[in-house]
Amino acid sequence: MVGNDAHPVFRELLPSPGGEVDLAAAYAHPVGLDRPWVRANMVASVDGGAIGPSGRSRDLSSSADRRVMGVLRGLCDVVLVGARTARVEDYGPVKDRASWAPLRAGRPATPAVAVVSRTLDLPDRLLTDAPPHARTIVFTVASAPAERRAHVARHADLEVVDGESVTPVHIVNALAGRGLYRVLTEGGPHLLAEFTASGLLDELCLTVSPHLLGAGAPRIVAGGPGTPGAPEFLSVQSTPVRMAHLLTADDALFARYVR
Ligand SMILES: NC(=O)c1ccc[n+]([C@@H]2O[C@H](COP(=O)([O-])OP(=O)(O)OC[C@H]3O[C@@H](n4cnc5c(N)ncnc54)[C@H](OP(=O)(O)O)[C@@H]3O)[C@@H](O)[C@H]2O)c1
Repeated sequence: MVGNDAHPVFRELLPSPGGEVDLAAAYAHPVGLDRPWVRANMVASVDGGAIGPSGRSRDLSSSADRRVMGVLRGLCDVVLVGARTARVEDYGPVKDRASWAPLRAGRPATPAVAVVSRTLDLPDRLLTDAPPHARTIVFTVASAPAERRAHVARHADLEVVDGESVTPVHIVNALAGRGLYRVLTEGGPHLLAEFTASGLLDELCLTVSPHLLGAGAPRIVAGGPGTPGAPEFLSVQSTPVRMAHLLTADDALFARYVR
């Protein structure tokens, strides 16, 4: 079958080269999940860049990439992002999709968005437009500006922690406490660096996008150990992962790496 922009056709390359792929099955979570599962979804150019000339990752995206992103959102309980990604990519609440009905049986129609921020400088619609079943969850620190704290608390579920940073373990435990086990983090690179260093990332879904960005583009993880402003709990470690699958559509590669 030949795909088009609206309906890209995904084919499996690994582990078994074959025909068209059912994305919901290919990205299904482990059955009987009894602990939080943190999956990251990121896109990189073939030379490893994560941010395009516009300052956003959407320069690297495509209809096939958006399709995978849609399925991953449909499968998750909560979408987690760093505040800079929310600002730069102008995040709002997740919109309902008819195709999600079978994926979300017994769950709210859309996943909530959770955002981590020290400044609480967040897109207002992310706070004010969220439906009651998926109120936005905001993690921040006690030093966040009081006026913004009050504004966020009026419209969203606000969690304030002591100290200079909200740790990944705090985020994952707090989400699990709300019954939100299937965490989908969409970055950005700084938040992903913290999750990678914490050892809490279970899975990376990586789109390798058919673009060359050159040396100026940051990687999908940034601000790691030793960089100015990096939280002190970061440390370098190597986490082995295995490739669960490699798919292709529209000249892009869609790899799923599981810890
Ligand atoms: N290639 C991809 O797949 C991809 C994915 C996502 C984003 N992006 C791109 O990446 C860029 C944004 O990513 P980024 O790495 O610069 O930023 P980011 O990780 O999205 O957000 C960083 C911000 O999150 C908050 N934050 C992070 N860790 C925190 C902690 N432990 N405690 C409290 N707050 C914390 C802070 O917010 P405050 O500043 O509010 O204090 C911090 O400035 C954009 O250009 C976006 O387009 C690329």
